Amino acid sequence: MCGIVGYVGRTMDDTALDVVMEGLTRLEYRGYDSAGVALVTDDGIDAEKRSGKLENLRAALAARPLPTSRTAIGHTRWATHGGPTDGNAHPHRGGEGDRLALIHNGIIENFHVLKKELVEEGVEFRSETDTEVAAKLLGREYDRLGDLTKAMQVVVNRLEGAFTLLAVHADSPGTVVGARRNSPLVVGLGDGENYLGSDVAAFIGHTRQAVELGQDQIVTITPDRHEVIGFDGAPAEGRAYEVTWDAAAAEKGGYPTFMEKEIHEQPHAVADTLLGRTDESGRLVLDEVRISEEQLRGVDRIIIVACGTAAYAGMVAKYAVEHWTRIPVEVSLAHEFRYCDPIVDGTTLVVSISQSGETMDTLMAVKHASDLGAMTLSVCNTHGSTIPRESDAVLYTHAGPEIAVASTKAFLAQITACYILGLYLAQLRGETYADDAKSVMAELQGIPAKIEDLLGRMDRVVEMANFMADTRSVLFLGRNVGYPVAMEGALKLKELAYIHAEGFAAGELKHGPIALIDAGQPVFIVVPSPDTPHELHKKVVSNIQEIRARGARTIVIAHDGDEDVEPYANEVIRIPRCSPMLAPLLAVVPLQIFALHLSTAKGLDVDQPRNLAKSVTVE
Ligand code: M6R
Repeated sequence: MCGIVGYVGRTMDDTALDVVMEGLTRLEYRGYDSAGVALVTDDGIDAEKRSGKLENLRAALAARPLPTSRTAIGHTRWATHGGPTDGNAHPHRGGEGDRLALIHNGIIENFHVLKKELVEEGVEFRSETDTEVAAKLLGREYDRLGDLTKAMQVVVNRLEGAFTLLAVHADSPGTVVGARRNSPLVVGLGDGENYLGSDVAAFIGHTRQAVELGQDQIVTITPDRHEVIGFDGAPAEGRAYEVTWDAAAAEKGGYPTFMEKEIHEQPHAVADTLLGRTDESGRLVLDEVRISEEQLRGVDRIIIVACGTAAYAGMVAKYAVEHWTRIPVEVSLAHEFRYCDPIVDGTTLVVSISQSGETMDTLMAVKHASDLGAMTLSVCNTHGSTIPRESDAVLYTHAGPEIAVASTKAFLAQITACYILGLYLAQLRGETYADDAKSVMAELQGIPAKIEDLLGRMDRVVEMANFMADTRSVLFLGRNVGYPVAMEGALKLKELAYIHAEGFAAGELKHGPIALIDAGQPVFIVVPSPDTPHELHKKVVSNIQEIRARGARTIVIAHDGDEDVEPYANEVIRIPRCSPMLAPLLAVVPLQIFALHLSTAKGLDVDQPRNLAKSVTVE
């Protein structure tokens, strides 16, 4: 939810502050209610923090430049406890003379009890945050023990909930101490300088050598070393790896927004997710599977858990996986699954889908499924994140870093990965549809070129978005795999353009929602491929007629060559022809472009829409 950066180097100059501000710029997608930095200077701790976006902090730093330093921490916040004010912004201070500064990502669930204890000791609080409790506790323990790492060890053992903490103390220049539980923290290894970040984007401009901390670990960095221990004080090690993408991948690359760049990266996201999925004999393989083939063969039920766009990817996948494997698939919003007393056992496969791998609702659903004895498999875009680590098996999507808060390329990569999983399970079970695996994989290989082609035909969609900037409500209809696509189109419009939008199953319209249709109501209809079985195509064409007859303005997304829709469409947006199951990978693209340009036409912040954050690490 929040973005965290830490830095230590050898030289007293502006590098520490520059590195931290650069890291915060890359992490701002994680939260942008307020931001702050703290430096260890020759005179103690100096800090600055401001509510609002990072530019407010930048202006404050320009107005009052901070002294030189070689040790800095920085934070960009998505508020949980306490509103987005200057006072609630991080860092928070603690210890005698406020000589300690601390930043935090997550929620400390027992902060009320701890705060009461501190207040009874006479400690005064200046904010409404749970974070300040950790700062005051850590300050107290440092004053007692005189060692920041030991003090951190005492404190983390008293905290409940999810947290990444970074702290610096005026008495320890050249040292930053971090700790993590249920929230990410990565070390970046430099030459005579070291880094900490919520994710590698924090320091990707400086090093690609990373060490991912495990659950319940504490790390101490100085310019020349990083030392990891467990919360119990025992020596520990993080997992070292080399980041395979560079700083350019986390920058806009000439596009006005990250979202536009990420939409245009979709051909690569799909192609890269398909890469290397077969062995020498042409059989599909997964990434990291700690479940035996025999156990997977015995799967008799699949439950997909995810939130938001990832859940819509799961809904698309349900149709395909059931079709190829004949295993019943349910899709459950992760937060509903966790608290609905789900029926799962040792033959249930719970598949989580998450771009970030840190969504707390999804993580809790996965842990709950494991506790109930289910096998768990994660479809995830972020290497080393928490959800894959907590799962028995992983299938990584290779969409590259997704920075815009609204998910686009991750959605396509998630569908692709779920299809690979479905075909893999079909292959294992030797079902009739196992034979389809090769032909579906071959057709999937052709999808990136079709997305590329489609992206080149979006001029009319952009025009429509521009003249529809004043629209108050838009409906989206789809059937079968087109239904989740319709819901994804509505979600994009809600989150980017703050317009009321709903996605419906087209067949459901006549059972109530058709009452919403009056003259001029814009309705997008995702039309299935004319090759879809069960005359579904015809049924959707009838649905278009029904709403057109009631005055709707019909904007139809149809395959090339589908002439049946023409008489009932005010606008037709064409997508390249493909088989019915693969159509979501194309049909969603015009809906993303529409939302992007409508948001731009309204002058809104495309990459960082109001009230949202990229990784939702609270339940
Ligand atoms: O990181 P995740 O895929 O787990 O995130 C899930 C949702 O929070 C995410 O898809 C959200 O709905 C996006 N804002 C949609 O654009």
